[in-house]
Amino acid sequence: MNDFTEAHRISSLLEYTQTYDRSIKDPEKFWSEIADSFTWRKKWSKTLEWNFKDPNVKWFVDGKLNITENLLDRHLEDRGDQVAILWEPNDPNEKGQSITYKELHAKVCQFSNTMIANGVGKGDRVIIYMPMVPEAAVAMMACARIGAVHSVVFAGFSSSALADRINDCEAKMVLTADGNFRGAKTIDVKGLVDEALEKTTSVEKVIVYQRTKTDVKMKEGRDIWWHDAIMNMSDQHDAEEMDSEDLLFILYTSGSTGKPKGVVHTCGGYMIFTYYSFLNVFQYKPRDIYWCTADVGWITGHSYIVYGPLLAGATTIMFEGVPTYPDAGRFWEVCDKHKVNQFYTAPTAIRALQAHGLEPVQKHKLDTITVIGSVGEPINEEAWHWYHEHIGKGKCPLVDTWWQTETGGIMISALAGITPNKPAHASLPLPGIQPIIVDADGNELEGNNVEGNLCIKHPWPSILRTTYGDHERCRQTYFSTYKNMYFTGDGAKRDHDGYLRILGRVDDVINVSGHRMGTAEVENAIDEHPKVVESAVVGFPHDIKGQGIYAFVIAETDGIEEEIRQTVKKMIGPIAKPDHIQLVSGLPKTRSGKIMRRILRKIASKDTDNMGDTSTLLNPEVVEEIIKGAH
Ligand code: WT7
Repeated sequence: MNDFTEAHRISSLLEYTQTYDRSIKDPEKFWSEIADSFTWRKKWSKTLEWNFKDPNVKWFVDGKLNITENLLDRHLEDRGDQVAILWEPNDPNEKGQSITYKELHAKVCQFSNTMIANGVGKGDRVIIYMPMVPEAAVAMMACARIGAVHSVVFAGFSSSALADRINDCEAKMVLTADGNFRGAKTIDVKGLVDEALEKTTSVEKVIVYQRTKTDVKMKEGRDIWWHDAIMNMSDQHDAEEMDSEDLLFILYTSGSTGKPKGVVHTCGGYMIFTYYSFLNVFQYKPRDIYWCTADVGWITGHSYIVYGPLLAGATTIMFEGVPTYPDAGRFWEVCDKHKVNQFYTAPTAIRALQAHGLEPVQKHKLDTITVIGSVGEPINEEAWHWYHEHIGKGKCPLVDTWWQTETGGIMISALAGITPNKPAHASLPLPGIQPIIVDADGNELEGNNVEGNLCIKHPWPSILRTTYGDHERCRQTYFSTYKNMYFTGDGAKRDHDGYLRILGRVDDVINVSGHRMGTAEVENAIDEHPKVVESAVVGFPHDIKGQGIYAFVIAETDGIEEEIRQTVKKMIGPIAKPDHIQLVSGLPKTRSGKIMRRILRKIASKDTDNMGDTSTLLNPEVVEEIIKGAH
């Protein structure tokens, strides 16, 4: 098998240092050399055009391509019979699937033709609200192939959250399933779609994949079964020619204010960066079996289950289930069963499994694993050591990968076995990435032993281009805090060895089990309850989830905590349900009426010894009352 990736895989620390230096000296030359090895219909005329003021970033200007020709067609000759997607179902007794590159190509072409036959074309937005079945990946790639813009919505979001996303991007089609098997539960996915579509007007067709055989209502003229829709459709399709900067997808993510925003990624740059980062961070070699346990509803699933691995010609596992079903040994059973080489998961999963003790781990060999990875939130040292010792058997490199929905791919991480890893440190930037730490005024803090806010000072190929339908919001959120820099929203420290450690969000975003929630978003959901007067939400340290959600609520009556939880579940989804709700008579406010979250955060974290100066508050007396009633 031709190893076309070899030229791009960094293989020593020295090579990393040299490559990094080269990539910073001349980023355009660096990225254009990598891009050169891809299939382009027409090469770009200019590698990069940018300013962070507007912002305006264009990579591979005027280049023409289709990303699916690079992740499918390109592999047919050399690895057509190699497995592209290995699917592991929720129930270990159900037979999985192995789909080769040739078969995947045929499925994607067939579904491309199906979508076109149902009225979708280049530029149309398509919502994918599906369980973790291979068809979800097929749907994403079929969109990319015909030039439709996919927006995957995590199937755990509520119908109301789904409706918001459909409306924001004015989607023409929804791809979904009858139901979703999650551990011992079956979720009525189609019912949620039906509910959402009552609040939207743009959707013309819904294609429903049959997974759980749940009894569902099919609306005449709008809903079609997937298996009926693909019948008689050709499995050949000429990919649409796309511009480098045409939209590839929109993915909604939470911020500190307002409703979730649609982060936009485009075809050319996203392709190059997800490929390159996948290859180097995980040190993927031909024939390795790679498993990322994320869901395709998150950016991790986009970049490191589907796009990055398939661009690199990898075998990627899609897992439908949950880590604790049928028992806490499931991950490790799957690792042995499929002889997994690279394993990539989230700290919250590690901590949850750690709590079940070593027995479920010791039943399995785990002897094929060579690299383990972590993503989504800071990994605490205890979880790091447990993961490294018991899953990595003390010898596998552990890559702690820092990145964001907005960055499209991994920005700061060790390259497995190449650059050193250090507990709880994301460590060093990938080639082409220029992270800097700044003080409150935006001055760059150079040298080691510095701490401040994390910014990036030069564009990389998969930086977000805009927030869908609202470019000003993109500018405001990421490019206005510090001049000429992308602001990540995270705090970071460069330690005495020069390694970066991510300290967590410095804004009103909380990270619950690796999922981003905006405090304002949760407050708005709580306020939907008719008996709620006002609420304030903060994060607090949580043993398993990393951060939990703590809600302080002023309400007209007592005893509505559970109702509030249900309201939040209905408005956003189960992941946003507060862990603690405290009914209070008032919220600490400044004289100008602003809620003092700093005080609430301290109370929620049980850190009340030093509350700082509360005398300037409008209502200092409520602080004592809240402390008394806290958890
Ligand atoms: C936020 C981005 C990146 C895919 C999953 C989450 C936090 C992410 C790490 C890490 C410390 C991390 C940051 C970031 N985060 N990875 N390795 N160490 N923190 O994507 O939902 O866009 O969230 O997750 O706070 O800003 P996301």
